Amino acid sequence: MKKDFDIVRVELGPDSYDIVIGSGALDSLTGFVSGKKYSRSALIITDTNVGPLYADRVKALLAAAGITAAVATIPAGEASKSLMVAEEVYTTAIEAGLDRHSPVIALGGGVVGDLSGFIAATYMRGVPFIQIPTSLLADVDSSVGGKVAVNHRLGKNLIGAFYQPDAVFIDLDCLKTLPAREISTGLGEIVKYGIISDAAMFDYLEENAEAVKALDTEAVRHLIIRSCEIKADVVSRDEKEGGLRRILNFGHTMAHAVEKEAGYGCYNHGEAVAIGMVCAAHISAALKLADEALLGRIEKLCRQLDLPTRVENCTVDKMYEDIFHDKKTVNGVVSWVLTPCPGETAIKNDVPEAIVRAAMTYCCA
Ligand code: GLY
Repeated sequence: MKKDFDIVRVELGPDSYDIVIGSGALDSLTGFVSGKKYSRSALIITDTNVGPLYADRVKALLAAAGITAAVATIPAGEASKSLMVAEEVYTTAIEAGLDRHSPVIALGGGVVGDLSGFIAATYMRGVPFIQIPTSLLADVDSSVGGKVAVNHRLGKNLIGAFYQPDAVFIDLDCLKTLPAREISTGLGEIVKYGIISDAAMFDYLEENAEAVKALDTEAVRHLIIRSCEIKADVVSRDEKEGGLRRILNFGHTMAHAVEKEAGYGCYNHGEAVAIGMVCAAHISAALKLADEALLGRIEKLCRQLDLPTRVENCTVDKMYEDIFHDKKTVNGVVSWVLTPCPGETAIKNDVPEAIVRAAMTYCCA
């Protein structure tokens, strides 16, 4: 692999892999696949937004290693994360003659990554998988850690697996084509990493919010590397979410309720996480785990990064009901990931209903 890219290693024994980060990181794809015993046929899965920008380049990079790639282009948007779309992509894979050693390459944001990983995990009982995330949110979250899934009409990500990629290539140049709202949604997850694991990163975000929003190269590189390091460390210690990995769900309990009640697509994921982090900070303060000042800091930082801190058009009753149907709720017990201060978490399974409702009410516009 080229020396001038940053590498973050996800240590998972025989399933360990590198996250290659940098401007032009995509170009190291040819060298990487040349060093693998892959078959000569591959499948690039992308969507109608990203495919026109990068699919030909990825095809050429694979061709330079002697691999011929078919391209499956799915409609952009969450609706494509379905078994129906997966079925169509399997057809493309079969028709293109993919065998058990043919790599599936995810080229796109979280929807493409999750669907592609699901296909890689299941096609011929599992084929090699490479992630090329093209959104900030996918760079720091969904492309790393091996959670792959499709949605069911009764809930998001209900059909899936843990299936690690062979490598992740985060090309910082891809961020240049992202709309501002897509940058903000990625920043929602980046704020989360600061809160759960790195007080200095939280301070850095407060001090550099404007530079970060303007995609200052050094600031963005630093934040992506640090986020990947934190996620890699957590995943290395708890791949299948037996315990520690739950801290990555900070802000997500309410976020999932917000996404559902507002209607999927109304708030994008990082925006809903921002509201959920305010909710979790409110609960942390109400339980006297944290002081009110932390709630204020989180709200202020989210606003600086153009992230919402309040949800519109959702009722507390409905959102309260939703948290009991969340994937993370077991036997009716909701595990709240809370925080006493940036860099630390506390998981509480017995938060009184009144405190949760008060926090949700606070988060309603
Ligand atoms: N997005 C949370 C996780 O990967 O565990």
